[in-house]
Amino acid sequence: MSSEGSGRVMDAVIPDIPAEDLELIRQLLAERTGFLLDGYKDKCIKRRINIRVRATHSASAAAYYRLLERDGRELALLHKVLTIHVSHFFRNPSMFRKLQEEILPALFAQAAETGKAGFTVWSVGCSSGEEPYSVALLLKEHFSAHSEHNLVRIIASDINQEILDAARKGVYGTERLVEVDQGLLNRYFKPIHGKYELSPEIRGMVTFSRGDLFNSRDFPACDLIFCRNVLIYFERSRQERILEGFAASLAGRGFLVLGKSETLVGDARKKFQTVCPVERIYRALC
Ligand SMILES: C[S@@+](CC[C@H](N)C(=O)[O-])C[C@H]1O[C@@H](n2cnc3c(N)ncnc32)[C@H](O)[C@@H]1O
Repeated sequence: MSSEGSGRVMDAVIPDIPAEDLELIRQLLAERTGFLLDGYKDKCIKRRINIRVRATHSASAAAYYRLLERDGRELALLHKVLTIHVSHFFRNPSMFRKLQEEILPALFAQAAETGKAGFTVWSVGCSSGEEPYSVALLLKEHFSAHSEHNLVRIIASDINQEILDAARKGVYGTERLVEVDQGLLNRYFKPIHGKYELSPEIRGMVTFSRGDLFNSRDFPACDLIFCRNVLIYFERSRQERILEGFAASLAGRGFLVLGKSETLVGDARKKFQTVCPVERIYRALC
């Protein structure tokens, strides 16, 4: 996020990408990786392409396009850079406290009242799994007794296959674990070659699959959605459409958690009530 925040300074020194070169790169990405740039904020995309233009010492965006044409690894790298995978366990710890103290108890109570066997949590734009695994750790640590009688299903999706493969492996560098306390680290992580491997028990609590937020057919019915630090990269009209899709997925008073710098937009605002404005927690209206 901070690199986006410092964008204004960078924009002043980085040359703009000519529209025809951007179009060529757009087409190449679509044809060879299936990744569509439409719907992402132009400014954000250009800034990230420029990072690769400079990193590869390409003389211009046109020269960088020619490199992409002949180098599949660079194309994969660009795809990765464009889909920004920054994350860490228990990102925004105060939101996870709210989750533990209010949201999860409310969902267990709601399941009991309605006679449902449990509920479903969906982490979308899950990156390498830090977010859904944080929820799994929270459930394991604080709700084991509830979970014996109530099945909590955690599903997680992302558009990037490579990042999902990493998520399934569950091996993390220390920079991703800064908010994990020592007790949790000892109980659920095993040191491995200077990194930490998450226990198979916690990994087994999350089901990963590839899914595109631009395709509402990929939206499952669920009770709690985490979509944090993803919408920020999309144009407003896309954000609105996605939020409306979330409201439909959450039918029956489910909860939505957005990132700290994200909010509801457009008509989607009528479909949710705000539960906690600071933590960006909303509840779908029936
Ligand atoms: C910055 S990460 C956010 C990770 C995590 N939610 C968090 O807040 O720590 C954004 C993720 O959104 C994913 N993403 C980008 N476009 C997407 C799309 N159209 N559909 C689904 N996921 C997408 C990226 O691949 C990336 O892993």
